[in-house]
Amino acid sequence: MAKTLVIAIDGPAAAGKGTLAKRLAIHYRLHYLDTGLLYRAVGRKAQAAGLDLDNPEEMTPIARDLNFHDIDEPSLRGREAGELASRVAAHSGVRQALNAFQREFAAQPGGALLDGRDIGTVICPDADVKIFVTASAEVRARRRTDELNAKGRTVVYERILEEVRQRDDRDSNRAVSPLKAADDAHLLDTSELSIDGVFRKACSLIDAQISR
Ligand code: CDP
Ligand code: CDP
Repeated sequence: MAKTLVIAIDGPAAAGKGTLAKRLAIHYRLHYLDTGLLYRAVGRKAQAAGLDLDNPEEMTPIARDLNFHDIDEPSLRGREAGELASRVAAHSGVRQALNAFQREFAAQPGGALLDGRDIGTVICPDADVKIFVTASAEVRARRRTDELNAKGRTVVYERILEEVRQRDDRDSNRAVSPLKAADDAHLLDTSELSIDGVFRKACSLIDAQISR
């Protein structure tokens, strides 16, 4: 029987993780989990309950009680939920409460691909392939702005750039599981690459690993 493949994709906001991850999961027939949705769901639930998102004691029970069937909510994908997510994601109790689900997901038969911030470092340190997707903050903000404008929402590039920088800062400087590339991750800078170009590069990294 073929060995089960586990792929870890990490990187900062709007680097193109999700776009790449979805294509790779289809191509390699892997189960796919967008782990940002877990943190987004906790942030949203906490906000709806009127709780203090910066208080770990209030946030940990929300993460423990999260119903994992509810994470595929379209409203979770918006900018506001991303901001809430990065606040609750700084609490170690929240992260611990979400870790077991992610690890079980990664271990299921058939293989898995997960994307987030700490997949290669904490959730799947033994992943077969780790890819850290990056792009400059300016390129990421431009892509996000174009994406939102294409959806009919008028947003200002400068404002989006500020949000991207704030999120980078919070995710990179938190004490627990900060955003950083695993030592054995392949760095994939997408600043100058098309979506197809990113996909092709990632496939060649993965294929090289599989054939070893
Ligand atoms: O998941 P993450 O926040 O890292 O990024 P995404 O939502 O997959 O991608 C952000 C935006 O960049 C989307 O609108 C993509 O279409 C676009 N994009 C990309 O992902 N890769 C490129 N090489 C060029 C554009
Ligand atoms: O798509 P985008 O990169 O904008 O956001 P996301 O992947 O949905 O993540 C939202 C927030 O959740 C991030 O800014 C992180 O603070 C947090 N997160 C995390 O800490 N660990 C993960 N594995 C995934 C997301």
